[in-house]
Amino acid sequence: MIISPVEFLKDELKGKEIINKATRIGDLKNLFKDELQRMRVPQHKIVYEVQAYLPVDEGTLGGLFFGITKIHSGKVGNEYFITRGHFHEVADRAEYYWGIKGQGILILMDQSRKIRAEIMQEGSLHYIPAYTAHRVANTGIDTLSFGACWPADAGHNYAEIAAHGFSGRVVEINGLPQLITED
Ligand code: F6R
Ligand code: MN
Repeated sequence: MIISPVEFLKDELKGKEIINKATRIGDLKNLFKDELQRMRVPQHKIVYEVQAYLPVDEGTLGGLFFGITKIHSGKVGNEYFITRGHFHEVADRAEYYWGIKGQGILILMDQSRKIRAEIMQEGSLHYIPAYTAHRVANTGIDTLSFGACWPADAGHNYAEIAAHGFSGRVVEINGLPQLITED
């Protein structure tokens, strides 16, 4: 019998080595444009959940990590629920994302703060180049699920985004998602 340590079933990872992490409204201080609106949302409300399979130690040169992210549907003011977003700590490390379920927008920002965006949906494939911050917004009425594969030594630089944010946001205007660039 062939035994696999992990199963990847549509948008679910199963296996005892899988790590689960939920990020709630209360964890995302100052992430959304309208901080007052964020404080009005119940703080325990989950914005997104990540399942990750980390088969080697973090920092292993040549290793690969695999994850599934599910962003719930929702908004803070007129801004769609988003992931925190990050550059990689080892900034020259790239990553793949792919859409599994739902509708979203991948926001990409280079080191000169230039923004571009890609539509994320079932079957979409996204190459996130080196030196590029990445964040996903769920623009749909259902949960958005996407996969990710990244180098085990990439790490996450959240501090840069905490300090300066992204120069673009995805907001709802007249019922439709729009990318608004800020600087
Ligand atoms: C890994 C990666 C994804 C994200 C996940 C949550 O490098 O990009 O697995 O970690 O989508 O987003 P963040 O990490 O920005 O909270
Ligand atoms: Mn990443």
